[in-house]
Amino acid sequence: MIDVIEHADLQSLNTFALPVRARWLVTLSDTAQLPDIMALPQFDRQSVLWLGGGSNILFCADYPALVVRMANRGIRLVADDGVRVVVEAAAGECWHEFVQYTLAQGWSGLENLSLIPGTVGAAPVQNIGAYGVEVQSCIEAVQCFDLDERQLRWLNRDECCFAYRDSIFKHGEQGRYVIVAVRFALSRSFTPQLHYGDLAQVAAELARGQTLTASMVAQAVCHIRQQKLPDPRVLGSAGSFFKNPVVPAALVTTLLNQYPALPHYPQSDGQMKLAAGWLIDQCGLKGYQLGGAAVHERQALVLVNKNQASAADVVALARYVQGCVAQRFQVQLEPEPVWLPQTLMLAAG
Ligand code: EPU
Repeated sequence: MIDVIEHADLQSLNTFALPVRARWLVTLSDTAQLPDIMALPQFDRQSVLWLGGGSNILFCADYPALVVRMANRGIRLVADDGVRVVVEAAAGECWHEFVQYTLAQGWSGLENLSLIPGTVGAAPVQNIGAYGVEVQSCIEAVQCFDLDERQLRWLNRDECCFAYRDSIFKHGEQGRYVIVAVRFALSRSFTPQLHYGDLAQVAAELARGQTLTASMVAQAVCHIRQQKLPDPRVLGSAGSFFKNPVVPAALVTTLLNQYPALPHYPQSDGQMKLAAGWLIDQCGLKGYQLGGAAVHERQALVLVNKNQASAADVVALARYVQGCVAQRFQVQLEPEPVWLPQTLMLAAG
């Protein structure tokens, strides 16, 4: 028996804490409930929203259809050859708690991805990344319910088509697969990834001459994130609001004449990645407020719910930021969270 809640309040189910409602809400606590959920009269494959931690979503309005909150739990060891382990986690597991669990077992690989809000099942969707590591590097396979074939199947890493903040689940086969579990290949021997920003320095300070461990790196990452990024339990946000734009090298050459400090990172295809946060910061927008929404004071890439923001406040602020950056740098910023409902997003875009 599936409990369907009508006009359900979604404020606590999106980390932006926007006051929106779902026409219907159900909670999936076991994969075995999927057939019953799909048999509900409210279920429509085109409009259903499979919701994880709600940390990478911007609800532009009430959700006019069924929302299924993925809350299935469970972690199990699948393989262990003494060096490499394969661990499987259910989609509804909290991402950060899962990372901490793996570190407590002595398994490394996910330490740089500590403290990212959201669930395990959402991690592959946007290929979460931080401090020089993307989750794709540790993903062995993703278990999905295939709505075309109406059965469970595993997609291996290549089939997921991972790219910067992207995957087959976000584009391509969007709407076909419901992620129910993820398998990670982790290691009992630790190879630190410390090349990003000041991570090496912060980790060394924490280690104080002792041998560096994966848990220490995780602590260093948590420390850096807490300095810059808002805690969604205190100040609503969806993390980075824009992707770091990838632009032609010729534009960077031109911009460098005027802005010699412009951070730019060469890509394998000859293009350049810019730091969206830097571009927004240069426009003087840190702390800028529109209605209840604001640009975060310590990290310009993050938009926050400063004071009971409405969805319209966040959308207006996002458009304003995009306009300022386009005018000054001729760079079009692309939002990073998924804007919902889709129809509204298309109308606005
Ligand atoms: N910068 C500024 N002002 C700002 C923000 C950044 O000048 O207000 C400059 C920084 O000084 C640095 C550059 O911009 O030179 C890059 O900034 P930072 O290292 O803080 O990282 P980011 O590019 O802003 C990305 C990810 C984050 C991830 C960090 C650390 C994206 C869209 N964002 O941010 O991911 O935590 O790197 O690896 O790729 C997320 O996706 O939600 C997220 C938080």
